[in-house]
Amino acid sequence: MQVQADRTIEAIDSALAKDKDMLDKAMLDDIMHARAQLEAVAQDTDETIIKDKIDNLEAISAKFVEIRMNSTITKLCRVIMLKNSRIGVKNKMPQLIILPHEELCPEGVVIEVEKGISVCNALLANDIEIEHACEMSNACTTCHIYVREGFDSIAESDETEDDLLDKAWGLDPDSRLSCQAIVDNADLVIEIPKYTINQVSENH
Ligand code: FES
Repeated sequence: MQVQADRTIEAIDSALAKDKDMLDKAMLDDIMHARAQLEAVAQDTDETIIKDKIDNLEAISAKFVEIRMNSTITKLCRVIMLKNSRIGVKNKMPQLIILPHEELCPEGVVIEVEKGISVCNALLANDIEIEHACEMSNACTTCHIYVREGFDSIAESDETEDDLLDKAWGLDPDSRLSCQAIVDNADLVIEIPKYTINQVSENH
């Protein structure tokens, strides 16, 4: 749990270093206060206290995360529109908009991919080192992603994937295993969860 506390503090520090200007003073003060509270208990032996402060900082930072995400999507969409206008929409390949992830893809990126490739393979081919512990054989949960846009363009998950997803950290209705999510014609907006199942179990 201490590791998770350190990671959370690192993540918020890094986000503030880049995008503090997006916040008004009240929001910044609230975040800094919650950060200080977490830092004060980060080495505590009582994991419940640490978890409580992590949850508090994450809840208070949620609006900041949303503002950053929207700003990134806007920037990335501009890149897509520019590219499409150059090549002509008719000939375009599907594009994956990868939202920022502190460790794997800090700035977010837009990548063009061949139809039929899995999202996991597309990420790895573009140096986004998502975990894939079972080598993409639909047998672990480490390649969990959220498909924020374009979800319905991907073939439905099978029973095995659904069972594995039940164990994923941060499961939500947009969750898929990236090795089983095959790109069709539509563009996709992909978010990589903050933690993998392995990182969470290491801390317990
Ligand atoms: S890499 Fe194991 S399920 Fe995708």
